[in-house]
Amino acid sequence: MKTTVRILAILALIYLIPTAYLNYTEPVEHWDWDEIDLNDIPFPENFIWGVASAAHQVEGGHTSNNWADWENTSFPDGSPHIARGEKCGIACDHWNRYPEDIKLMQELGVKSYRFSVSWSKIMPQQGVIDTAALLHYVDVCDSLLMAGIQPMVTLHHFAHPMWWEEKGAFEKEENIQDFVDFSEVVFNALKGRVTYWCTLNEPAVFVIAAYFDGNFPPGKQDPKLAAEVLKNMYLAHVKVYEKLKTLPGGDRAHIGIVKNMHQIDPMNDWNLFDRLLSRTVNQGFNGSFISTFTKGKYKFSFPTLVDLETDVPNAPYSLDFVGLNYYSHNAMDFSFNLDEALKTRMYPDETPTDMDYTMYPEGFYRAIKEISVLNKPIIITENGVADADDDMRGEFIKKYLYAVSKAIEDGYDVRGYHYWSLMDNFEWNLGYDERFGLYEVDFKTQKRTLREGSKEYQRIVKAN
Ligand code: GCO
Repeated sequence: MKTTVRILAILALIYLIPTAYLNYTEPVEHWDWDEIDLNDIPFPENFIWGVASAAHQVEGGHTSNNWADWENTSFPDGSPHIARGEKCGIACDHWNRYPEDIKLMQELGVKSYRFSVSWSKIMPQQGVIDTAALLHYVDVCDSLLMAGIQPMVTLHHFAHPMWWEEKGAFEKEENIQDFVDFSEVVFNALKGRVTYWCTLNEPAVFVIAAYFDGNFPPGKQDPKLAAEVLKNMYLAHVKVYEKLKTLPGGDRAHIGIVKNMHQIDPMNDWNLFDRLLSRTVNQGFNGSFISTFTKGKYKFSFPTLVDLETDVPNAPYSLDFVGLNYYSHNAMDFSFNLDEALKTRMYPDETPTDMDYTMYPEGFYRAIKEISVLNKPIIITENGVADADDDMRGEFIKKYLYAVSKAIEDGYDVRGYHYWSLMDNFEWNLGYDERFGLYEVDFKTQKRTLREGSKEYQRIVKAN
């Protein structure tokens, strides 16, 4: 078996060699930070400053979505789906404490709050609308507006109702209509209050975790299905965009999708194999998005595993803006044995965060440049760091914001920035240990405390 895999992989690589050098992304670059003044980072006058969160991660009380089911079941070997067997539970109790949390946003000085609405709470069963849940979000929007903060709504952020999961969710093209119907209900309830709408959060991250690695529900490891689901998610975005535009108020809404431009780079630039492998993975993760939304051509392929090429017509006409999430990059290192070849690595010369990636602000500039080929206004919808000890957050904020500022200075059309996240929350399969919050949350008492490092963000926001 191993020999066959090896032969196939070698053949695959031979097939890739001629194209590898012809189509290579950006080189991994590091700036000389000693030469850079981080105390004065300029931003344009009407730049939108914000913070971000997602319903499942902060609200609490999710009992009937794909994640509620996931946390109550385990992997075939008996190990829990969520680290340490944790449950999401009441999370930050944001469902009840949002008035208090809006005060925290005011304390920071931000003027935009990106959050997601819970499909399973609004539609607990197919065709059934829970009006109280819908009104809850109306109230959240009104409270934000009264506090001088613009609501920015995400319609799908990794979670959906269990009844929809059971129908196959994004695995089946015919299910897309359910998501369009849900989006229409939310749009009609909130439209006068919301200017910026994000249809889907990070489709590629969701698909890799849920259908490639099997760490997110439904926990499948099926590259062909992964390619299909990703295509259906892009299609769903287009359909929601087109539907909302036909509704009253649709012409005034700014509708976009959120893309994480996490780069996959070669560990060693001189190593042809590292370059081939990273290029191939990067193409699936980032390239397929770019070609779908610039040319309407979707392509997801990995030699011997999957090869899907199809049109997503109208995709290039389905964006009023693009939401960019950025955290870091990882490396492909072919010197490891083949069974491990698809695992991503961290660069040893970069500072690690609490997650499996390093601090890499230069990559933020690259990501902005890479996504700017869409020719759409860019809004940073997420950027932040898992740093429980709070010993790198301040530096992270300054360096990453410097990269954004430099990109704007160089002419890239970045309109706003949302820090991930307002407060510590439930980090999906990793549970509660990853601390992304500007505010530290004591999950026993629900007390929120502004971290020292976060004051850099507060300072920069207030200065601009
Ligand atoms: C994601 C999501 C967020 C995460 C954040 C930190 O990228 O997985 O959009 O829900 O919590 O990125 O990892």
